[in-house]
Amino acid sequence: MDPARDNPLVRFSSFWLGALIFVLFGLACLVIVPLLGGKEEDAMDAATSERRIENLREMQAAQDAVLTRDQVSAHFRAAGEGLLAVQPAPMKVPTQVVPGSPTAEKLAADTGPPPDVEELAADAPVDPAVMELGKAQYILCMACHGADGNGVANIAPPLAGSEWVTGPVQNLIRIQLRGLTGPITVKGKEYNLPAPMVAQAFQTDEQVAAVLTYIRNSWGNKASPVTPEMVKALRGEVGKPPLTAADLIPPTGDKPAGDQSAP
Ligand code: HEC
Repeated sequence: MDPARDNPLVRFSSFWLGALIFVLFGLACLVIVPLLGGKEEDAMDAATSERRIENLREMQAAQDAVLTRDQVSAHFRAAGEGLLAVQPAPMKVPTQVVPGSPTAEKLAADTGPPPDVEELAADAPVDPAVMELGKAQYILCMACHGADGNGVANIAPPLAGSEWVTGPVQNLIRIQLRGLTGPITVKGKEYNLPAPMVAQAFQTDEQVAAVLTYIRNSWGNKASPVTPEMVKALRGEVGKPPLTAADLIPPTGDKPAGDQSAP
C-alpha cells in the first residue's frame, strides 16, 4: 500500500482542489459563455437594424423623388372637392322598382293611357344588324317561348304566327316593361298558364327594340321594326303592375283578342 495515498493531508487537499475546479468550471459556464454569445447577438442586431433603417431611408427618398408630401395632399384635396362638386342626376324614369315601395304605389296610381308610339314608327326596312342583336337578346325568351318561337307547353304561348307579335307595337313594348298575366288567346287558342310572364325592363331601349324587331321578323312573321325611341317613350310603364290581355290593344288577327269562343 502506498503510504502517500493514505496521507490525510493529501486526501484533504485533493478533495478541495477537485471541488474548487468543479465550481470554477460551473462559474465559467454560467457567466462567461452566455456573455460571449450575448455580445455576438447584440452585434448582429445592430448591423441588421442599421441596414433596415438604411433601407427605409432609401425607400422614403425614392418616394419623395416621385411625389412630394405636398403633391400628395394637394391631390387628395382636389379629389375630395371634385366628389363634393358632383350632383347626382335625378332619375326621371326608374328601370327597376321595388314592389310595394312608395315609387311602385305612385306608378300604380297613374292609370293614364300610355303614349301612342305608332306615330314614331320608322318607315325604314329591317336592319340586319338589329336582327343580329335581337337574335342574341332572344336568349332571354328562349327557355319559355322556344328556340323556334313555337312556345313551350304549360310555360308560354307561341310567338311564331302570333297576332300579338305582329300586332300593335305598343302592346309588345308594354309586355316587355310590365310583364303579362292571366288568360290570353294566341292563334285562336286560349292559354291560362300557371306562371305569368315577368317584366324584362332591365333591358336597354336598344335591346328591347331589337328583340321585338327580331320576333316580328322571324319564323315567318313579318312586321315593321321597333325603334329604341318607341321603347323610350313607354319607359313610364316600368314598375306598374303586370298587364292582362284586357289592358292591351286587341290585335287585328283572324281571331279577336279575348274571343273565348275560339276552337
Ligand atoms: C319565364 C317565361 C317567359 C320568358 C322568359 C318570356 N316570356 Fe313572354 N310570355 C310568357 C308567358 C307565360 C306569357 C303569357 C302571359 C299571360 O298572359 O299569362 C307570355 C306572353 C308573351 C307575349 C304575348 C303572347 C304571345 O305569345 O304572343 C309576347 C309577345 C312575349 N311573351 C314576348 C316575350 C319576349 C320577346 C321575351 C324575351 C325578351 C319573353 N316573352 C320572355 C313567358 C315568358
